[in-house]
Amino acid sequence: MCEYCGCQSLTAIDELTREHDEVVRLIGHLRSARQEGVTPRMAEVAREIARVLGPHTEVEEQGLFPALAGDFPEQIAALADEHRRIEAVLAEAAEGTPTDPAWPDRLLAAMAVLRDHILKEQDGVFPAALAHLGTEEWEAVEATRARAGSPLVRPAA
Ligand SMILES: [Fe+2]
Repeated sequence: MCEYCGCQSLTAIDELTREHDEVVRLIGHLRSARQEGVTPRMAEVAREIARVLGPHTEVEEQGLFPALAGDFPEQIAALADEHRRIEAVLAEAAEGTPTDPAWPDRLLAAMAVLRDHILKEQDGVFPAALAHLGTEEWEAVEATRARAGSPLVRPAA
């Protein structure tokens, strides 16, 4: 990874984008499970989404967001707040199928927030990061990724 050509930043953003794609794909499974009325399947998919989002959110919040919070304090605070709201609904399925009959609807509402959130990140945060972050900040993002791990299988180089 070199510091001059931008490959470091592009790799980091590419990985975050692929995680978003995977989450959007999983949200699709959630919709079909909801239509079929299979709450245990929804809980299973919720756990899968949480597994992808865990390291992803860590990289965003500990790597990317601190580097942008100075210039965009309100936007970054709002995005972090949405992370907490989304995590809370997903976490209800962590140990099994939630018994609250309102959970499937609350989950789908949270997933609508998540889809919108993903668009805000891809149209706002990621381009801003590519424009504003310097080498040291990308190194911090990379170090956070190394700590957090990657929930997706990396494509063969
Ligand atoms: Fe994200």
